[in-house]
Amino acid sequence: MAADLILGKEVAEEVFVDLRKRIDALKAAGTLPGLAVILVGEDPASQVYVRNKVRKCEELGMRSVKIEMPASTTQEELLAKVAELNADPAIHGFLVQLPLPKHIDEKAVINAIDPAKDADCFHPVNVGKMLIGEPDFLPATPAGVMEMLKRRGIQTAGKHAVVIGRSNIVGKPMAAILMQRGVDATVTVANSRTENLPEITRTADILIAAVGKPGFVTADMVKDGAVVIDVGTNRIDDPSSPKGSRLVGDVDFEAVKEKASWITPVPGGVGPMTICMLMANAVRAAERASR
Ligand code: GUN
Repeated sequence: MAADLILGKEVAEEVFVDLRKRIDALKAAGTLPGLAVILVGEDPASQVYVRNKVRKCEELGMRSVKIEMPASTTQEELLAKVAELNADPAIHGFLVQLPLPKHIDEKAVINAIDPAKDADCFHPVNVGKMLIGEPDFLPATPAGVMEMLKRRGIQTAGKHAVVIGRSNIVGKPMAAILMQRGVDATVTVANSRTENLPEITRTADILIAAVGKPGFVTADMVKDGAVVIDVGTNRIDDPSSPKGSRLVGDVDFEAVKEKASWITPVPGGVGPMTICMLMANAVRAAERASR
């Protein structure tokens, strides 16, 4: 039997209903929640992501500030901009869109962000707080996956969750959240050197793919009835598409959907949840600042 789809747009709308109420409450108390996004250079994919973040912010009635800096920006200039936003009381949360141009030290920039304004939850202080189960914020993509599981009634306690990928943005925080008390999954984190990967993934009740390889998860790697979450966003050539390319996930969707109980498509699955949870972090930052 084919799996049920978990659609990010639908789950995000459910989250936005709650966020709109919190934004209205903040405004009624005299705080207009503000999110700023810094974009350095002209990476086309980053430009699209940033545009979408700004648009969503405006749609929700929040203050939205887009700061565009040229690719030639020096590290000092970027750090000065970060310091400026750290000190700006009208900006409750902000992020620096990654990747940054090669001459800029990404780590130094993330470390310079005030942890209280770290909308991405990339600062080591926030990563540490998340790991010990006392988070102020959660990173947007894994938090979005958790929201999808929760709002579709998918049980995590006692279940075996296998995360393929160990990036700082997705794999590691995903594993950290799944293992928390209250979530209570048994977690395996696989990487590109994992031996006997299909054997391991076939034991997954919840399989989360975040490897960045199109079609990496094939049907033979999936247990009947598993929940399959595809975090991959890979652009592949497709001469039949008007753009000449299209977006695919890490999962062989057509084959795996016949085995899974729930599955997220790409596009339209996890993607819309990332912006949604970023907005949730911005609202939370404003709430914390106005207490
Ligand atoms: N680039 C790709 N994803 C992200 C993200 O979640 N945050 C930032 N700052 N940059 C990104």
